[in-house]
Amino acid sequence: MTGKSERLYLGIETSCDDTSCAIYSPEEGVVVHRTAAQLDHARYGGVVPEIASRSHMKTILPLYETVMEEAGLCTGDLAGIGVTNGPGLTGSLLVGLSFAKALAYGSGRPLIGIHHLEGHILANGLEKPFVTPATVLVVSGGHTQLIFVEKIGRYRFLGGTRDDAAGEAFDKIGKLLGLPYPGGPSIQKAAANGDPGSFTFPRALRHSGECDFSFSGLKTAVRLKAESMGELTAGDIAGLASSAQEAIVDILAEKSLMAAKMTSPEMFYIAGGVAANSRLREVMKERMGKAGVPVSWPSIEYCTDNAAMIACAASHHIEAERTDGLELNTFPRGELTSWS
Ligand SMILES: Nc1ncnc2c1ncn2[C@@H]1O[C@H](COP(=O)(O)OP(=O)(O)OP(=O)(O)O)[C@@H](O)[C@H]1O
Ligand SMILES: [Mg+2]
Repeated sequence: MTGKSERLYLGIETSCDDTSCAIYSPEEGVVVHRTAAQLDHARYGGVVPEIASRSHMKTILPLYETVMEEAGLCTGDLAGIGVTNGPGLTGSLLVGLSFAKALAYGSGRPLIGIHHLEGHILANGLEKPFVTPATVLVVSGGHTQLIFVEKIGRYRFLGGTRDDAAGEAFDKIGKLLGLPYPGGPSIQKAAANGDPGSFTFPRALRHSGECDFSFSGLKTAVRLKAESMGELTAGDIAGLASSAQEAIVDILAEKSLMAAKMTSPEMFYIAGGVAANSRLREVMKERMGKAGVPVSWPSIEYCTDNAAMIACAASHHIEAERTDGLELNTFPRGELTSWS
């Protein structure tokens, strides 16, 4: 419950399969955050865009009403409204954007479209101040990038994946091992009973000298190894999951260290859904610690898609007098660029 700060921001996030609304204030932090996950996709082993947008349409209004009621707010109390307008699934993005536009039009409150990756990066500022200059590993279902944040609003792309994202690799490997969707948490769980040294899987582009990644070969290597083993026992799956997780974590940590050495940041952040991975957190802490680089990540609730990060990003934009008009549109893909 808020003491009615003048700086209360509503965030709306519907870029993929989670419907999320949150209220954030720079003084109080996250006031209320609610995310409704869509469970209908699990049986298809991946997100079905039409199911996602229909589900957002059903959920967005009651979710918004719950959040406003829990915070004890009406629309007129808001300092502004932030909404993810890309990258993501167009049908899903349009539900959140149309809803946010209607609220902004009806209330006269400022509106700002937020790049989803800026949200993931700034999730690191929800529970403690965001320190700059920072180097960030954004590692999620659709992205794997290293980004230098000189200050909030100034972003420099250092490198990224040439094919699959790390989260996508977790999901695809989880699927081929017959584990429940999404693969990331399932692989982490299965890996707990396996030996990471059971199999040696490739660390692509290890010697490229650049902050780039490739995960499509790993998925193929795991598939070929699994096929060569015939009927998989629980022990086989644990060994494969643990070795695959180790390969992903190892290369993420190695390239992150390279990026940190190139940029000498005050802080190294991990952002996005894969930042929830406990082995990644452990290895990053150990290797960054040895190099004297402080490393931090958000609570699990704020690693995967959530509207608190969007409300937080909106507060930065709106307080810098950056707003959008009602002509704001969605974009399916596009790099995070610096503010103009
Ligand atoms: N514990 C975990 N270990 C590894 N991966 C995880 C874990 N928890 C979640 N993930 C992965 O995180 C991804 C989801 O993250 P997120 O919600 O940020 O992605 P997205 O929004 O679909 O993609 P993007 O942010 O790139 O648009 C999935 O690929 C999921 O498997
Ligand atoms: Mg995301």
